[in-house]
Amino acid sequence: MKLQAISTKAPPGSLELLTALGEEGENGFGGTPVGSDPEKLDDWLDYCVHIATSPPLSDDFVRQTNYWIIDNMGFVVGLVRIFPRINKALINKGGHFGYYVVPAHRRKGYGKAAIRLALDKLRAKGVKQALVTVDSHNTVSLSLVKALGGAMEDERIDDETGQAFCRFWLGTD
Ligand SMILES: CC(C)(COP(=O)(O)OP(=O)(O)OC[C@H]1O[C@@H](n2cnc3c(N)ncnc32)[C@H](O)[C@@H]1OP(=O)(O)O)[C@@H](O)C(=O)NCCC(=O)NCCS
Repeated sequence: MKLQAISTKAPPGSLELLTALGEEGENGFGGTPVGSDPEKLDDWLDYCVHIATSPPLSDDFVRQTNYWIIDNMGFVVGLVRIFPRINKALINKGGHFGYYVVPAHRRKGYGKAAIRLALDKLRAKGVKQALVTVDSHNTVSLSLVKALGGAMEDERIDDETGQAFCRFWLGTD
């Protein structure tokens, strides 16, 4: 499998993933407008290219690269988001990266492999310690991050939702 930066050309399985993810997203991994309207796919791809390449406009607008997780057959099985430079809001919640695997492809090792590749990308951008935040009820992601050696800094409460989340640091070496 590999991570492929999102471009204006959608690989097979893209729409299925975005439909499964929906607009709401899952466990704090945000959804996209395409989740409720497949006709928005091209606009969303353009947006992904824009936020990956345009210079940061302000502290609220940080550069973000979205990657498809692609299996060995060239099919999309997941999505990874990377924020090489995090602002105050992301230092509190969100961190340097997030990940999502389509339900039908879970428990096959894609999540773990994708996190390792995300850490490689962050290292290449000069990040030595990567922050990841995980909702406290998300036992799958908690065990995944711990299995990869994540060191928990603290548990906090989301001001907006009142939900608890844990903050972990992972070395990128
Ligand atoms: C979290 C997520 C990405 C895991 O993806 P995945 O491809 O299933 O993960 P992997 O197959 O690499 O699993 C790696 C490890 O996670 C743990 N794990 C995965 N699924 C699990 C489950 N259902 N129950 C318990 N542990 C689980 C195990 O330790 C597993 O290792 P093992 O299979 O060798 O026992 C996926 O469940 C997902 O997309 N969830 C919704 C979005 C989300 O929560 N994103 C993270 C936000 S912080």
